[in-house]
Amino acid sequence: MRILTLPFLFIFTFSIAAETGNKLNLPIYQYKLKDGRGRELVEMYCQMCHSVGYILNNSGADKRTWEHIVNHMINDFKAPIDKETAEKIVDYLSKEYGKVEK
Ligand code: HEC
Repeated sequence: MRILTLPFLFIFTFSIAAETGNKLNLPIYQYKLKDGRGRELVEMYCQMCHSVGYILNNSGADKRTWEHIVNHMINDFKAPIDKETAEKIVDYLSKEYGKVEK
């Protein structure tokens, strides 16, 4: 009798694991950017390669730093962003996620 209990326990354990496994919902986090002029440009151009999380990590950067970051994306990673759009993106980022005045 005991010899039968072990495989039964095994199957029981695994069926529970499979059950919870199916219900596992990993969070796919959707970052929401602040409203403002140029927001849709950032959503369009800056999420091609990575999430907006990268951008939010740099919140509080001054305008020069944002310029540097955007140029870095364009020059080194070949982000297809024209000059005019890049300027609008920098304006949005430095206004909405710029240096916090104290
Ligand atoms: C062509 C692909 C591409 C596009 C488009 C792109 N990035 Fe990036 N970005 C990268 C890669 C690759 C990295 C990671 C490189 C690294 O770790 O330095 C990165 C990293 C970053 C980082 C964090 C690293 C750092 O230097 O602080 C920031 C901030 C960032 N990107 C902002 C932007 C912004 C703003 C835009 C839109 C203007 C943008 N990215 C568009 C490729 C891209």
